[in-house]
Parts: sequence; C-alpha cells; structure tokens
Amino acid sequence: MSKRRGGRARRAALPLLWLAAALLSAGCGQRGTPPPVDVFLARHWAEPLPPQGPPPAGFSTLEASLSPQACGQCHAPQYEAWRTSLHSRTVGPGLLWQLALMDQAQANGCFRCHAPLAEQKALLAIEHGWQGAPPLPPPGYVDPQLGHQGLVCAACHVREHRRFGPPAGPGADSGVAHGGFTASPAFQDSRFCAHCHQFPPNGPSVAGKLFEDTWNQWAASPMAPGRSCQSCHMPDRQHLWRGIHDPDTTRSALDLGVQVAALGGGRYEARARVRNVGAGHHFPTYMVPKIELDFVRRDADGATQALGRHVIGWSVDTQLTREIADTRISAGASRDFTVPFAAPRSGGWKVELVVRVKPGEHYERMYREYLARAAELPPQAVSQLRRALAEVLAAEYELMRVAATPPIAN
Ligand code: HEC
Ligand code: HEC
Ligand code: HEC
Ligand code: HEC
Ligand code: HEC
Repeated sequence: MSKRRGGRARRAALPLLWLAAALLSAGCGQRGTPPPVDVFLARHWAEPLPPQGPPPAGFSTLEASLSPQACGQCHAPQYEAWRTSLHSRTVGPGLLWQLALMDQAQANGCFRCHAPLAEQKALLAIEHGWQGAPPLPPPGYVDPQLGHQGLVCAACHVREHRRFGPPAGPGADSGVAHGGFTASPAFQDSRFCAHCHQFPPNGPSVAGKLFEDTWNQWAASPMAPGRSCQSCHMPDRQHLWRGIHDPDTTRSALDLGVQVAALGGGRYEARARVRNVGAGHHFPTYMVPKIELDFVRRDADGATQALGRHVIGWSVDTQLTREIADTRISAGASRDFTVPFAAPRSGGWKVELVVRVKPGEHYERMYREYLARAAELPPQAVSQLRRALAEVLAAEYELMRVAATPPIAN
C-alpha cells in the first residue's frame, strides 16, 4: 500500500526541505566550559539533524552520494560488515507495521534513532503522504532507497557533506576524496553511542528504571572507562555491532557453572551460577531479550524429565506499565538459579541445563497480542506485523548445554 499523495501537496511551512541552509558551524560559538567531546556530540547529534544541503561544487557524483553503496565503493570492509549488522536493518517490518498506526510527529520520534537523516525522513514522509513532504524527485545525492536503508554510514559520519571520523588509524592513506575528513575522538567515546542507546533521565521508565539505560549501566560497571562500547562492539574498528543476536558474542558474556547438591531423602537441588564476565552493562541490557534456563534430568535409560525453568531478563507487560520480574545480571556480578527435584534410586542419572536465547521476547508477546486483533488494523500493517513476528521467532537459538553429575553419594 502506498498512501502517497503525489508528494506534491506542499504546505506553507515545510519542515522537510532538501536544501535548507544548515548552519552547523554555529555551534563553534560555544566556548570553554564543556569538554570538546560533549560540544562535538551535541552538534553532531543535533535533534533533528538538519538537511545536508547542496554538495560542494568539486564533488563527483560518487563523493556527493549519501548512499551506503556509494561509500562502499571506496570503503569496502566497512560496507561489507555494516550490511550484515542490525544497524542496516533499523527500518524493518518491526518498525514499519507500527508506522501505519502513527502520525508524523510520533514517527519522527522513532526516526531519530531508526532513520536519523533529514533526507531519510523526507523520503519516508513522501512515501506516507505526510505533511511538508518535499517535492519529487529528490536531488541526485539522495538515493530513493535511502529511507529504508536504516542507520546508514552518513547518519554517523556526514554533516553538511563533510566527513567526520575517528583519528586516522595505521594504514590510512592520505587520499583526497570528499575533501578529506575531520577527526574527532568523540567516535571512540561511549557517549557517541548513548545518543540512541541511552534515554535521558526524564525518558520513559517503569518501576523507576529507564527503558534504555545502557550507557548508565556501563558507566557504573567495572568495565568503564577502560573498555568503551566500541572496544567490544567494533573490535579493530569493524562495523559489526554484534550483540545478543549473535551466539558467540552472547557466549562471551557468560561464565556458567552447574552443580547438583544432595538435600537428603532422595531429594536434590540443581544450581546454575551465571556470572556476567563479558558484557559491559546488564546481561541483557534491555527489556526485550530473555535467556531461558531449562533444567532437565536425564536418566540412565535415556528418559528425560523437565525439572524447571528460570528466565534471565527484565520482564515488563506489553503495555509497558508494570514490571513482572527483573533478573538481569549487572556487569561483573553473578546470580544463582536453583531447582529442587527428586531422583530415582537406581542412579546413573545426570542433570542437563539447556540455555536458550530469545533476543526479541518482549516483541514476540506484543506482536502476538496485536495479531489477535488483526481485524482492527490496516491490512498493510498486518502483513508487516506477520513478517516482524516471523523475524523475531527466527532469531531464537540454543546457546549451550551444560551437564552436571550428582554428588558421589548417589
Ligand atoms: C571516491 C572514494 C570515496 C568515497 C565514495 C567515500 N570515501 Fe570516505 N574516504 C576516502 C578516502 C581515500 C579517505 C582517506 C582516509 C582513508 O584512507 O581511509 C576517506 C576517509 C573517510 C573517513 C575518515 C576515516 C578515518 O580514519 O577516520 C570517513 C569516516 C569516511 N571516509 C566516510 C565515508 C562515508 C560515510 C562515505 C559515504 C557517504 C564515504 N566516505 C565515501 C574515499 C572515499
Ligand atoms: C552507528 C554509527 C556508525 C555507522 C552507521 C557507520 N560507522 Fe563508520 N565508524 C563509526 C565509529 C564509532 C568509528 C570509530 C571506531 C573506533 O575507532 O573504534 C567508525 C570508523 C569508520 C572509519 C575509519 C576506519 C578505520 O579503520 O580507520 C571509516 C572509514 C568508516 N567508519 C566508514 C563507514 C562506512 C563506509 C559506513 C557504512 C557502510 C559506516 N562507517 C557506518 C560509527 C559508524
Ligand atoms: C533513543 C533511540 C530510539 C528511539 C527514539 C526508538 N528506538 Fe526502537 N530501538 C532502539 C534500539 C537501541 C533498539 C535495539 C534494542 C532493542 O531491541 O530494544 C531498538 C529496537 C527496536 C525494534 C526491534 C528491532 C526491529 O527493528 O524490529 C523495534 C520494532 C523498534 N525499536 C521500534 C521503535 C518504534 C516504533 C519507535 C518509535 C515509537 C522507536 N523504536 C523509537 C532505539 C530507539
Ligand atoms: C566489555 C564488553 C562490552 C562493553 C564495554 C559493552 N558491551 Fe554491549 N554487549 C556485550 C556483550 C557480550 C553482549 C551480549 C550479551 C548481552 O546482551 O548482554 C552485549 C549486548 C549489547 C546489546 C544487545 C541488546 C541487549 O539487550 O543486551 C546492545 C544494544 C549493546 N550491547 C550496546 C552497548 C553499548 C551502547 C555500550 C556502551 C555504553 C556497550 N554495549 C558496552 C559486550 C559489551
Ligand atoms: C542513530 C542511532 C544509533 C546509534 C548512534 C547507535 N546505535 Fe546501535 N542500534 C540502534 C538501533 C535502532 C538498533 C536496533 C537494530 C535492530 O534490531 O533493528 C541498534 C542495535 C545495536 C546493537 C545490536 C544488538 C543486538 O544484537 O540486538 C548493538 C550491539 C549496537 N546497536 C551497538 C552500538 C554501538 C556500540 C554504538 C556506538 C558506536 C551504536 N550502537 C550507535 C541505533 C543506534
């Protein structure tokens, strides 16, 4: 479905222009007090981001383009890595079905993190027939696909067509493409990521906890300040941003041991001790993922018996009004999960712990509730909602199995 109104319905006041004169450099007027990284980031992540404006006269078509494919012509390793990352999928079915139920102001609130460039918001406004959509066609440096390409290179690196990046690494050539670049240590600072991974103190919360609190969790952890977000999520400057969706990254967060203790009278207790040794914030940081710990008794004859389940995560109801449980493990801390059970006299049994990860558990619950009321939703939203649910389910995986034998007395 396209609610396109030809894109030509211009209003008197146009919030979205292709060529608005951006005056980012005005920020230079602020002197002294805040340290440079703060000043840089306040300008770099101004809300909303102003349009890039016309490209400098000397730029080739390739240099002027905001499209990630264009950057990839000269920065192949970054492009190849970014393509496989979730940052390239921030405008997916999970966002799109919700847009169909929103007005433009609400949607722009989401785009701040999911499609931050003014040019992306303009394209999405044209697509949805929203107010102030600029006229078609977009200028040559704006690829018509840009609105759906997520957190593109230019969102992090390009302002007024100028490139910004970290101080040059070893092996960088002194090429003169796109008029060079401006280096800032802000790119290696965890505050760079906080713009989207940390809500402000007055942001939405439940039980006094911000929905997004990753930077604060990190700042309070033993990892800070030595290990930045980038050092774990962009090792060697790779643009991968692997997290809970990636089994190896999730495994690197954990130290996990399982033991069986005899309680007497044929009763036992299985205990899993889970330590967060590798995540520089709570494990997991958000309310969305859950880690399920299933305890199973495997008998000598091969029969199995489910003993119980524990869940690691922050469970909140789908209306986001009530905390159900919070069993996240803060950085460096550990948590015990126990299950009492009875065992056969014959012996030869063992306990197995099966660890499963559901990276999108909160959304799974929410999407199912909305699908149950599908008749009340626009058809376009329903098909995207089904796709979103399928993506969430496909992301689940078994992380590991750990076995423990009973104490020798058995
Ligand atoms: C025509 C080739 C070309 C294109 C297209 C291009 N770049 Fe570059 N870029 C270069 C060269 C050459 C350098 C010099 C430093 C180097 O070797 O990395 C550079 C440097 C950079 C740097 C600084 C690297 C550092 O060490 O901090 C960033 C960031 C950057 N480009 C981002 C982009 C982005 C984003 C795009 C697309 C919007 C883009 N570039 C498009 C060739 C290009
Ligand atoms: C979420 C923000 C973000 C996005 C999106 C992003 N980058 Fe980066 N990029 C960074 C950060 C942060 C660094 C510095 C990492 C560090 O130094 O640890 C960086 C570093 C770079 C460098 C310097 C690399 C080096 O080895 O010296 C280049 C070139 C670059 N990015 C190009 C790109 C291109 C091309 C894309 C799109 C395919 C892209 N970036 C997407 C945040 C981003
Ligand atoms: C402050 C930045 C920020 C804002 C604003 C924001 N998000 Fe997100 N969003 C994130 C981050 C970070 C994640 C990844 C972590 C997670 O799953 O919570 C995410 C994940 C998601 C996901 C799951 C991944 C996917 O692409 O399917 C959906 C759906 C989503 N957001 C929808 C929205 C909607 C709808 C809005 C507006 C009402 C919104 N977001 C506003 C930062 C933001
Ligand atoms: C010491 C390494 C380390 C540091 C530092 C670190 N992370 Fe992580 N991060 C991980 C590991 C490991 C995971 C996977 C396990 C998990 O989800 O907690 C992860 C997961 C994530 C996730 C996935 C969502 C979720 O609910 O867990 C996001 C988003 C994230 N990190 C963002 C950040 C940001 C932003 C920072 C800086 C403020 C940061 N990380 C600092 C290691 C680190
Ligand atoms: C402009 C907003 C924005 C910025 C800046 C940003 N992110 Fe993200 N990030 C997102 C959104 C939105 C998602 C959700 C992607 C999805 O699932 O669709 C995300 C996802 C992630 C994930 C995926 C975790 C997982 O497996 O679920 C990691 C890790 C992450 N970001 C780390 C970082 C780090 C490190 C930085 C700083 C270098 C950073 N991000 C900067 C918006 C941002």
